Amino acid sequence: MEQEELNEVEIEDEYAEAEAGPIPVSKLEECGISANDIKKLVAEGYHTVESIAYTPKKQLLVIKGISEAKADKILMEATKLVPMGFTTATEFHQRRADMISITTGSKELDTLLGGGLETGSITEIFGEFRTGKTQLCHTLAVTCQLPLDMGGGEGKCLYIDTEGTFRPERLLAVAERYGLNGEEVLDNVAYARAYNSDHQSTLLIQASAMMAEQRYSLLIVDSATALYRTDFSGRGELSARQMHLARFLRTLLRLADVFGVAVVITNQVVAQVDGAAMFAADPKKPIGGNIMAHASTTRLYLRKGRGETRICKIYDSPCLPESEAVFAINADGIGDAKE
Ligand SMILES: Nc1ncnc2c1ncn2[C@@H]1O[C@H](COP(=O)(O)OP(=O)(O)O)[C@@H](O)[C@H]1O
Ligand SMILES: [Mg+2]
Repeated sequence: MEQEELNEVEIEDEYAEAEAGPIPVSKLEECGISANDIKKLVAEGYHTVESIAYTPKKQLLVIKGISEAKADKILMEATKLVPMGFTTATEFHQRRADMISITTGSKELDTLLGGGLETGSITEIFGEFRTGKTQLCHTLAVTCQLPLDMGGGEGKCLYIDTEGTFRPERLLAVAERYGLNGEEVLDNVAYARAYNSDHQSTLLIQASAMMAEQRYSLLIVDSATALYRTDFSGRGELSARQMHLARFLRTLLRLADVFGVAVVITNQVVAQVDGAAMFAADPKKPIGGNIMAHASTTRLYLRKGRGETRICKIYDSPCLPESEAVFAINADGIGDAKE
């Protein structure tokens, strides 16, 4: 009798655990997956059962030592633990209502975005040099740490910098504005400089390990495409570049899905050379083509306004109209333009 009661509590605990967030991949050991195979999965960056459940089988087969039979068994056990079937639109609607948005620092910009930066998906910020992409990243690296009732995500930030433009002193200025302890704010930002596109991808494997350990609410890659432009040149390497970029973006999407973090990537624009340029009002387009367009849930186009002001336009979103907002780059981060 006593034994039965204990089991019930244990089961409830397991449910609570599942509700609380990602399930560590070690859990699969209880379902008959060997510790050795789990080690192989972790080495490839699969730290959670979710990350495995969302992965197509052929990607697991790439891992050395994972046979077809093993992959089937792993996937079967993973999908048993992670709910992946249909739900009602009502439930989905409720989940969206509970979704955390992170403030950008500007009320106008937050309103444009329907509350702020969406967690659980990729937001791409593109525009020419000095349009405020990096400044927006710096502000978000701080606001993502704020409590929920202040428009934050109550989590740490992971910052991948490919251009060497990360400046902690900019974070300190934003921290002061929100009354946060500067030292703590900087301690909550994990920073890495990426030196080439392979390195940029490898860093995501470390990122998933870190996210499985601690609560992160934001992952920034500034810029997502710059290294691809240097590492792959000319038409001859275009297809290799797009394939590599697609894999990188797929990993980002998985991190957003599994850990519910907001992912922000920045991107530059290039002059449009095809026929469409003649008809377009602004003959510039973001780098990365369709692969980038499909991976980013929300695409924001920044351009210069008067003085320190900048204009943000929703370029593509599943639920926001194509409208614009004006914001400012201030000494203490992104804010609203003064009248
Ligand atoms: N401390 C600061 N105070 C106010 N504005 C700043 C500060 N530092 C940078 N800026 C503004 O930010 C702009 C650069 O934005 P940035 O985000 O680096 O552009 P991007 O990443 O799009 O190339 C500069 O033109 C400058 O006006
Ligand atoms: Mg920049």
